[in-house]
Amino acid sequence: MALAIVLIVLALGSVLFHFLSPWYFTPLASNWGTIDQTISITFWVTGTVFVAVSGFVALAIWRYRHNPESRAAYEPENKKLEWRLLIVTTLGVAAMLAPGLFVWAKFVDVPADAAVVEVVAQQWNWMYRMPGKDGRLGRVDARFVTPENPFGMSPDDPNGRDDVLVTSPELHLPMNAPVKLLLRSKDVLHNFSVAQIRVKMDLVPGLVTYVWFTPTRAGNFDLLCEELCGVGHFAMRGRIVVEDPAPFQAWLDHQPTFAQVSARAKGDAVAGKASFAVCAGCHGMQGEGNFALRAPRLAGQGAWYLERQLHQFKQGTRGADERDAAGRQMAPMAATLPDDAAIANVAAYIATLPDTPVAPTIRGDVDRGRARYATCAACHGADGRGLASTNAPRLQGMSDWYLGTQLQNFRDGVRGAHAQDMHGAQMALMAKMLSDDGAIGDILAYINTR
Ligand code: CUA
Repeated sequence: MALAIVLIVLALGSVLFHFLSPWYFTPLASNWGTIDQTISITFWVTGTVFVAVSGFVALAIWRYRHNPESRAAYEPENKKLEWRLLIVTTLGVAAMLAPGLFVWAKFVDVPADAAVVEVVAQQWNWMYRMPGKDGRLGRVDARFVTPENPFGMSPDDPNGRDDVLVTSPELHLPMNAPVKLLLRSKDVLHNFSVAQIRVKMDLVPGLVTYVWFTPTRAGNFDLLCEELCGVGHFAMRGRIVVEDPAPFQAWLDHQPTFAQVSARAKGDAVAGKASFAVCAGCHGMQGEGNFALRAPRLAGQGAWYLERQLHQFKQGTRGADERDAAGRQMAPMAATLPDDAAIANVAAYIATLPDTPVAPTIRGDVDRGRARYATCAACHGADGRGLASTNAPRLQGMSDWYLGTQLQNFRDGVRGAHAQDMHGAQMALMAKMLSDDGAIGDILAYINTR
């Protein structure tokens, strides 16, 4: 008797939970309403069967409970009942599967006027490429991948010259225009998934998969990798910004083409030396850093990283938080560099400074730090020398007190919290794993041994 009541409460509770709970589909932002309908049909079919079976079992428990007077009748076959169950089950299964087939037929049938965007995944980042005016994407090959050419663009394919390269994990798309995404992975399996757009597709190394959709609602949507792809998997996030055609065009016009990227002048160290005089006031003549002035060592740091940070300080995506006193001091300094060329020049000059490691200032448990550093090594390298391909700067031999402050800043949301600082956001997620300052000291002590 108690069991029958439990079953009925369970069935009714599940139905009530389904209709009353606030957790359901995120509001749709694409043309794929049919996917929601398919899931709803499946819910109705399985829900009806669940309630019917639970009710029947509860009824059977109560109606045919033990009675010493009566005996069960043996009835091995009931043709009529079997036929009924067979027909009902067939209809139920067909109702669940058939809509999916119709939706899938549409899902793989890309409209002829869909704009093409290539999505490139790698541990643990997203990048995008769009064909230029010629409407054709240039050839790519893994052989051509270098830190300067992360897309692996073929240098002598004329179709690739005007390809638009987006190295930020943020992709903008115009409203109400169908788009076909070509999905490519540089290393392992990843998965392109945007809940509001209802698309989800694996990226397989060696293959180009695709999805298509028409964005129907403006907004910022999280792009998540939903395939376990290594220690940084949870931090492999991007953003899809759906907006009106005018702001989309303005964004697109700001993105460089492959020709522009290749022609970008390498920084001029001689020209950068003059600008560096300002930096030397705090960071030292040799860029060796100054603890008293909270100025970290710059010499030996990757030029790509220094350039990115200078851009971020200039744009206010770093050093704007009130709690970041040192960063707020740096921001107006970066603003004295008038343009991209000036920033490249300073970084080029810093690259000529002698690479002399600075003395450690932080103590900690090296063995504990080694175990903790395994996670950091995935991006920053086992030797801590940094990797441009994972957007991870050099740590080894740099100012350890500065690294400690930055880890705390990342962890506490002082750095990496700006909506436009997506690389910082990734580091912030990693830093959240450092529960206490002791852990930070241990890691730094270990890095000092590298
Ligand atoms: Cu890429 Cu998970």
